[in-house]
Amino acid sequence: MTFKPAPWPRKLRSQEWFGGTTKDAIYHRGWMKNQGFPPDLFDGRPVIGILNTWSELTPCNAHLNDLAQRVKHGIYEAGGFPLEVPVFSVSESAFRPTAMMFRNLAAMQVEEAMRGQPMDGCVLLVGCDKTTPSLLMAAASTDIPSIVVTGGPMLNGYYKNERVGSGTHLWKFSAAVAAGTMSREEFVEAEASMSRSPGSCNTMGTASTMASMAEALGMALSGNAAIPAVDSRRRMMAQLTGRRIVQMVKDDLKPSDVMTKQAFENAIRTNAAIGGSTNAVIHLLAMAGRVGIDLTLDDWDRCGRDVPTIVNLMPSGKYLMEEFFYAGGLPVVIKRLGEGGLLHKDALTVSGGTIWDQVKDVQNHNEEVILPTDKALTKSGGIVVLKGNLAPKGAVLKPSAATPSLMVHRGRAVVFEDIDDYKAKINDEDLDIDETCVMVLKNCGPKGYPGMAEVGNMGLPPKVLRKGITDMVRISDARMSGTAFGTVCLHTSPEAAAGGPLAVVQNGDMIELDVPNRRLHLDISDAELAARLAKWKPRDEGPASGYAMLHHRHVQGADTGADLDFLKGCRGNPVGKDSH
Ligand code: FES
Repeated sequence: MTFKPAPWPRKLRSQEWFGGTTKDAIYHRGWMKNQGFPPDLFDGRPVIGILNTWSELTPCNAHLNDLAQRVKHGIYEAGGFPLEVPVFSVSESAFRPTAMMFRNLAAMQVEEAMRGQPMDGCVLLVGCDKTTPSLLMAAASTDIPSIVVTGGPMLNGYYKNERVGSGTHLWKFSAAVAAGTMSREEFVEAEASMSRSPGSCNTMGTASTMASMAEALGMALSGNAAIPAVDSRRRMMAQLTGRRIVQMVKDDLKPSDVMTKQAFENAIRTNAAIGGSTNAVIHLLAMAGRVGIDLTLDDWDRCGRDVPTIVNLMPSGKYLMEEFFYAGGLPVVIKRLGEGGLLHKDALTVSGGTIWDQVKDVQNHNEEVILPTDKALTKSGGIVVLKGNLAPKGAVLKPSAATPSLMVHRGRAVVFEDIDDYKAKINDEDLDIDETCVMVLKNCGPKGYPGMAEVGNMGLPPKVLRKGITDMVRISDARMSGTAFGTVCLHTSPEAAAGGPLAVVQNGDMIELDVPNRRLHLDISDAELAARLAKWKPRDEGPASGYAMLHHRHVQGADTGADLDFLKGCRGNPVGKDSH
């Protein structure tokens, strides 16, 4: 795609606040000058908001203030005026009931922070899972020139000389404790090895996936995703990003120029190649909804089918983000997609050039980490979209993290009505369950949990684990951490709390999973299913006040991205009325 830059110089939106000699202009400039800014900074140069998701309660983003200073250097160098703005930070590791419930709230807060204040362009300084999609959703809804720079992943973890991946080993060690092959003391000792530097999860979890999605969409500079948080090149990337946004403002290069249908298809294929998180499905659908792109679950299945998973990172593979960076990082993967005819090469990026220009000359430095196609982890690595009477609007499964022998499976349902029911029963030695059963978890979707928690990869019963079994078919309306693994059907839509068929599955029903034919089937007659659904009633009315009520009333299904219905679409960036 050829991008035609806007003429420069021209009047920018920040001049609606800072330009001229009126009482209002003096009011806006005068107060800003209490920070000691020289007058020439208000002369019509691009004003750049550095939207910083720093928080000490978002540990993956706790180092972002340092990077913000580097972004500032870059903005000044390029002739812009940087202003750092703290925005809502959503931590995956700490927020209750689940960070996902607040992705939309964060996106709404950031959108209004962008639109309501004198910003001509924005640097989205993000890291932990939800911070990346929430700020990208806001940028899409305002269409103010924006660029992403992420905080970067943590360094490798090691315990007893074994690589320890963020999250992935939490599930592995936890299962080992339940199986009796690891002591509780060893588990506690291993805790210190999991997070040994600043940064986000070092696996190809959701944070690394969303950093990769931002890069594949063209919304971050090439090479951004994999640089470790503590590597000096992360600071350099921040500075270069600061320089770049100033030119983007001058050129008027907007999110809607970059986040096209082609860009989303590139991102979906990249997700398959990296073995990325299932969470990317929800986030990309929501982002596309904000920018007005018609992206559906079927696009995920269609685009991902022919893409092998070639990035050998946990949870699908063996290595971690640090090794991915040394191997050449995401540009190598995007180049491979291009060579395989699986990339829209002319998709525009924030660089002002095409995505192919950015990657065509890169080299793979480690074929153990970025695998040759004939050694791919999975030949068809794209997220699978399942449909059937159990998931009329779809469910998703990540084949690279699943067990091949379970891809076609028929088993007896063992039902948990909600996560508390699961916790109460799973360790009961009398629970009627074995490895051939299908574990079914209800009421964990966008409305149900509320917020769609990452509990879909529910742990197996100890009596099954003790046999050395590590995977069973599991079905829910929940999400799964990007660091997790297993033959897990997620995001089942409509969700149980909205009266989807999942709500009426009973213990003892037979369920069929058929991944090659994309089928998820509850083996009861249509008449029986209709009779059960006719009797179904919601468990309660939902929260009566606060954001929880707003979320419950307006959240959409996972199949369309779980955004709030009234936030869909681009509302632009009109400067609005002045209050003075
Ligand atoms: Fe923050 Fe994984 S918990 S990136």
